[in-house]
Amino acid sequence: MHRRFVRRCAAVILAALAVASPVQADDIAARWQEVCSSCHGPVGHSEQPEVPSIGGQPVLFTAIQLFLFREGRRTGTPLSDAMTEAARQVSDSDLRAFAEFIAKLPPPPPAEGPVDEVRFRRGMGIAAERRCAVCHNPDYSGREQMARLAGQREDYLVRSLSQYRAGRRVGAQAAMLEAVAGLNDEQIADLAHMLAHWPKR
Ligand code: HEC
Ligand code: HEC
Repeated sequence: MHRRFVRRCAAVILAALAVASPVQADDIAARWQEVCSSCHGPVGHSEQPEVPSIGGQPVLFTAIQLFLFREGRRTGTPLSDAMTEAARQVSDSDLRAFAEFIAKLPPPPPAEGPVDEVRFRRGMGIAAERRCAVCHNPDYSGREQMARLAGQREDYLVRSLSQYRAGRRVGAQAAMLEAVAGLNDEQIADLAHMLAHWPKR
């Protein structure tokens, strides 16, 4: 019985070794602690204004954003230069490993603090009109190159949406430019309030 159990464990560990190099995974975890966690929080839940929470972001989304920062294509905020500096340490072969590490961190919980029911419902109305959930998933968990939005910091959401509207955040696709075209400041604030508190506690 015991020997069979040991053999099974060995088989499982061998299978895991085949898909990911543990040396690289350890190295990524150490670098996360050393370089990234001071801004993004130990498990990717940011407590700093303007810094996004990134725990649970889809692999492809993160890999693309790290690439955009590293290549100097995602700029324009007071802190984006600091992020570009951090991304310079991420080589091509590390991109996927970092993205996989981040995808496995727990997604941020909905924002604390009171929910304004009227604004939350207005946000849902705008999201339905603009079909945000078609790309970002009905639970706003994101997929592929499309970001997770649920539980993101409200200040960061306002800033990102405003940047897309002004054409100052250049993504890999033009999808977001179109999604926010013509929204006013109040509508952007309502969307951010709704998404930060999603799913409502
Ligand atoms: C000095 C603080 C700081 C450090 C250190 C830092 N980041 Fe960031 N990071 C930011 C800020 C601020 C943004 C948003 C910048 C912007 O929107 O222009 C960001 C954005 C990101 C994004 C895009 C998230 C999204 O939702 O769009 C990813 C992915 C990311 N960081 C990963 C990392 C990784 C991996 C490291 C470590 C190698 C790291 N960051 C180190 C501050 C930092
Ligand atoms: C046609 C697909 C599509 C639709 C519709 C769409 N998005 Fe996006 N969204 C994307 C993609 C793709 C990205 C990543 C783009 C990039 O590289 O900057 C993104 C990024 C974002 C980001 C940045 C997230 C981050 O962490 O940096 C926010 C915020 C966002 N979308 C909110 C919305 C909202 C709110 C709506 C509805 C008003 C919406 N999106 C509609 C595809 C879409």
